[in-house]
Amino acid sequence: MKTETNRPPEALASAPSAWRYGRTAVVLHWTISVLILATIPLGFFMVAVEKEPGAETYFDLHMSVGIVIALLVAARIVWRLTHAPQPLPASLPRWQIWLAGATQAAIYLLIVLMPLTGYLGASHSKGGVPFFGLTTPRWTGPDHDTAENFLGVHSILIWVLIVLLVLHIAGALKHLLVDKDGVFQRMTFRSRHRTASPPPP
Ligand code: HEM
Repeated sequence: MKTETNRPPEALASAPSAWRYGRTAVVLHWTISVLILATIPLGFFMVAVEKEPGAETYFDLHMSVGIVIALLVAARIVWRLTHAPQPLPASLPRWQIWLAGATQAAIYLLIVLMPLTGYLGASHSKGGVPFFGLTTPRWTGPDHDTAENFLGVHSILIWVLIVLLVLHIAGALKHLLVDKDGVFQRMTFRSRHRTASPPPP
């Protein structure tokens, strides 16, 4: 497995910039974050106005952006598996390192399951799955109960994802505002030459 920088381990020890996530990982992280944070309120809103005229537009947008998120998440997972980030500072309490890792792993799982359950539910609905106004190919006929089951799971999982995102964001803000240890800056766009060196162990 490569590191984010493709440099040998001995070079990483003396190069603070190597501690940061690479540009591709940062771009994917923030693009997916913005899209998910927009898709969640859109999902709740469209369900609230579902009986009103024009609601299909919101459903179309939600499903289309959800599919884009799924594709970006697939790219992010491939990138993460082939470009391991540097570990968190050893000076952090073990429970914090464990909690951060467990939360991130659970978020990966949820951002795979959310689009998947949404897609499977919509695929079994009468309307099918639109993609920015286009009709995507149907691979199964409408089946009301199956659609309800998948969309029911979709509606429950969103609350698990919201709790995980709150934990993740709280942890990130603690590093930025309280610990001020450069961990937050690992995932920012700032110049690789100016920032984010690991604190001494
Ligand atoms: C990370 C991606 C996604 C997130 C965060 C998300 C989030 C949400 C949220 C918050 C709701 C409202 C739940 C409720 O009020 O019960 C919802 C509903 C829905 N989503 Fe998604 N969604 C995602 C992806 C998708 C995809 C890819 C599709 C389909 C292609 C989809 C189809 C639907 C449908 C059809 C509903 C309405 C469910 C109902 O009527 O009970 N979603 N989604």
